[in-house]
Amino acid sequence: MWRTGQSGMASRIDIINGPNLNLLGQREPEIYGTETLSGIEAACRALTDRMGLQMTFSQSNHEGALVDRIQAARGAAAGIIINPAAYTHTSVAILDALSAFDGPVIEVHLSNIHRREAFRHHSYISARADAVIAGCGAQGYELALSRMARLLGKA
Ligand code: DQA
Repeated sequence: MWRTGQSGMASRIDIINGPNLNLLGQREPEIYGTETLSGIEAACRALTDRMGLQMTFSQSNHEGALVDRIQAARGAAAGIIINPAAYTHTSVAILDALSAFDGPVIEVHLSNIHRREAFRHHSYISARADAVIAGCGAQGYELALSRMARLLGKA
């Protein structure tokens, strides 16, 4: 179990989404499904409300903005759930930002990246992730929340 640190941050989970995930529902639905990102946010909100956890949910198309968002979680969130999207396969900067975060990190992909093109098989993020969920579609976010609650001693 992870130390929960200062009071106030113990129960906040930051869910962070990378580039093009704002287009979920319209973008390659045969790969990513028909659920929208706001639909996923609503499902996550319902789950965290039920679990008595706080949640933030964000998305950016910009690598530096994602780094800023991860840095902002330091000392404020207990855990991070991240779908770095295409930056999964390219970004040492996002890996480094996550390495400077002091709590559990769960990496989520809607699709099974290992069944796709070879360039998607490597994740820079997995070197820091405590768990990786891929190929479960939108449900992957709910599975990640359930695992995060367990890691934080909340379930
Ligand atoms: C993704 C997989 C990545 O390879 C891709 O670039 C994405 C989404 C997924 O959720 O399956 O944008 O992270």
